[in-house]
Amino acid sequence: LQTEGSADVHIDLNRLIGRLDELARIGAIEGGGSCRLALTDADRRGRDRFVGWLRELGMAVRVDRIGNVTGTWPPGDERPPVMMGSHLDTVATGGRFDGALGVLAGLEVVQTLQDAGHRPGRPLAVGAFTNEEGARFQPDMLGSLVWVGGLSLPDALAQVGTDGCTVGEALAGIGYAGEAQVPGPTPHAFVELHVEQGPILEEQGVDIGAVAGVQGIAWTELHLVGESNHAGTCPMRLRHDPGYGAAAIATFVRDMCLRLGGGQVGTVGRIELHPNLINVVPAEATMTVDLRNTDAVMLAQSRRELGDFVAALAEREGLEIASRTVADFDPVEFDPELVARIERIAEDRGQGVRRMASGAGHDAQMFARVCPSAMIFVPSRGGISHNPAEFTEPHQLQAGADVLLQLVLEFAG
Ligand code: GLV
Ligand code: MN
Ligand code: MN
Repeated sequence: LQTEGSADVHIDLNRLIGRLDELARIGAIEGGGSCRLALTDADRRGRDRFVGWLRELGMAVRVDRIGNVTGTWPPGDERPPVMMGSHLDTVATGGRFDGALGVLAGLEVVQTLQDAGHRPGRPLAVGAFTNEEGARFQPDMLGSLVWVGGLSLPDALAQVGTDGCTVGEALAGIGYAGEAQVPGPTPHAFVELHVEQGPILEEQGVDIGAVAGVQGIAWTELHLVGESNHAGTCPMRLRHDPGYGAAAIATFVRDMCLRLGGGQVGTVGRIELHPNLINVVPAEATMTVDLRNTDAVMLAQSRRELGDFVAALAEREGLEIASRTVADFDPVEFDPELVARIERIAEDRGQGVRRMASGAGHDAQMFARVCPSAMIFVPSRGGISHNPAEFTEPHQLQAGADVLLQLVLEFAG
């Protein structure tokens, strides 16, 4: 294998797809996707399979106290590694590529180098980080955030999930509360291959995204308390209806994002009414608002506007509304030298490449706090993700993993 400007290094696509298929069968759901919510039994089985692969490759396995799993090759080399990786957890309606691709492509890079008898100048590591999705426990990217010292271990373990279970209980329950210390050792660099999960690469007919940064993310959980009453007898003028309040907030979020324009997006992904019955004005509503923007100033404005709307709504409707920030991440810029290198490698290989921002959150954005970090994107058909229909063409998987391989070869020396 040549290490500079070589266009003829390739990972084994069939082996990569074989592992993606095997992982997708763990927690398989209808439509070809997976449900491996963080720290559930399906997540444990996915982790077990990953650990098995790490061992097959002779890598040194490390499990830390928040459950992040990493493998290092060659084992015993304590120097800071070039780390690849992503996550194995999914949302409840996940596809087969979100997260899995970055982890399994990392394995593929290591195995390709082993098969070629190539020993990199620096150790390589592949990581799978706990609760990247944030669907069961907030915040998202929890494991990588703890790794880089952005959240203390006790605070992370105390987070309560959507089912009332804490991170600490769930982690112990699946047997992945490891011994290794957090914050973890700082890698030499961190690179993550991921599906785009959006429409841009496909629309532009380009197979490689050189990800320059990640937009800011603000997650809020709102708890609305009103007065439960009979749906037939309570006149409209006497109602304090948290169901109406939740609906009003949802329409406000959409209207505000359209009005602010630019890259502002906003989502109400969860609304739970209590008691949730056809003929009862609800007593309570719990809901989430996800606001994102690459522009920190605009993101802050959207948060302020949401807060003002909620306060006025509470006053007007006679509702008690409590608001809690459950994720708050500034926009992140990746290492310019690494981003330029990804572009150059893709161009040298004859691949179309586009510099772009990520709309989704990723573990690489946490590692960017402590070491040079970057991401490679490959297209998502129809821009669809967090959906079992998520799909990336095999030749695009190959292109992305080959760019990852070349990047690692150059960076590890
Ligand atoms: C997490 O991956 C998110 O972007 O929601
Ligand atoms: Mn992901
Ligand atoms: Mn995801």
